[in-house]
Amino acid sequence: VSARTIVVTGTDTGIGKTVVAAAMTHALGASYWKPIQAGLDDETDSDVVARLAGLPPERVLAEAYRLNTPCSPHRAAALDGIAIDPGTLRVPDHAGSLVIEGAGGALVPVTRDLLFADLFAAWGLPVVIVARTGLGTINHSLLTIEALRSRRVPILGIAFVGDAAPDSEATIGAIGQVARLGRLPRLDPLTPETLHAAFAAGFAQGLAP
Ligand SMILES: Nc1ncnc2c1ncn2[C@@H]1O[C@H](COP(=O)(O)OP(=O)(O)OP(=O)(O)O)[C@@H](O)[C@H]1O
Ligand SMILES: [Mg+2]
Repeated sequence: VSARTIVVTGTDTGIGKTVVAAAMTHALGASYWKPIQAGLDDETDSDVVARLAGLPPERVLAEAYRLNTPCSPHRAAALDGIAIDPGTLRVPDHAGSLVIEGAGGALVPVTRDLLFADLFAAWGLPVVIVARTGLGTINHSLLTIEALRSRRVPILGIAFVGDAAPDSEATIGAIGQVARLGRLPRLDPLTPETLHAAFAAGFAQGLAP
């Protein structure tokens, strides 16, 4: 299998991007990169992925920006008194496959002039949308799909998190014309073992194409 670089975005913050990214990173034998981490008080997303995917340190690429406040990067940077330079947000050199996680959702500002979706478009990399299965997901998922399509961001597919909602999942696929990659249930406990088993069961086709 050839090396792949995949971007993970979501319909919202706290939707399960990091957990899906950890499962994908493990399944692909990939490295992980969180270009902008906003909020350093708790375990960072890189820490969580390293733990859940069982990554050695060399497969966790350093963040380009580590910002103190858990809020939109444009604001978190301002609060830290720094300016994010989009020119520094190039995909780092790496061996093998890479999973990249954005912050929040697709239209979160990186700076006041650049949204994450614009950055994804500049990279030209395929994006996985993480969406919840609960009420409201059709609207949020279709909005996210439109925002990415209008910028010509290639959409690899949509990954659901939560209890099965077959009608919502199928409706998003049909109206949004996106591939449904699979679904992770809410896991309790959430451990590397339960995550890898749930990903293998819920994403039976892997991340094709
Ligand atoms: N499938 C799951 N089973 C159990 N808990 C989950 C699952 N997915 C996510 N969670 C929990 O929900 C919370 C939010 O998930 P996660 O950190 O992956 O969201 P996110 O979209 O990456 O958020 P952010 O926008 O902050 O990066 C975390 O506490 C995580 O452990
Ligand atoms: Mg995250």
